[in-house]
Amino acid sequence: MLFAGGAIALLIFLYSAPEETTSRMPRDENHRKFYEIKSKKEAEKLCVGCHSKGGEYPLTDTHPDPYRCLFCHKRD
Ligand code: HEC
Ligand code: HEC
Repeated sequence: MLFAGGAIALLIFLYSAPEETTSRMPRDENHRKFYEIKSKKEAEKLCVGCHSKGGEYPLTDTHPDPYRCLFCHKRD
């Protein structure tokens, strides 16, 4: 009885967990090469070329501290 209750509570908990909402890194022409670089650290060094002020797709002012891009923006 107690066990069944626990199992149900756990299921409800898992079911209501928030979805991951941070956008994933796109899999397109611009980002294809980063799927091939195994080391996240190495890949991240190249992001800022485009994703910085003056780049082709700068981060917004509300962007969180952009350290270690790929921890938040997962590769799929
Ligand atoms: C050659 C330039 C270029 C480089 C280098 C680059 N990006 Fe991008 N990125 C873009 C452009 C342009 C877009 C918007 C269009 C698109 O989806 O490709 C974009 C979109 C994104 C998005 C989606 C943002 C949204 O609005 O949903 C994420 C996340 C992202 N990039 C992460 C990265 C990460 C992480 C790296 C480094 C590993 C990286 N980018 C390197 C050009 C680049
Ligand atoms: C602490 C987590 C975190 C880190 C680290 C991070 N981001 Fe983001 N990023 C976010 C969130 C949250 C958003 C806005 C919500 C969303 O993804 O739609 C965002 C949005 C973006 C966007 C869309 C434009 C914008 O500013 O809203 C791009 C492009 C992007 N990030 C690229 C990068 C790059 C490149 C790096 C590394 C230099 C990076 N991010 C590091 C969490 C993060």
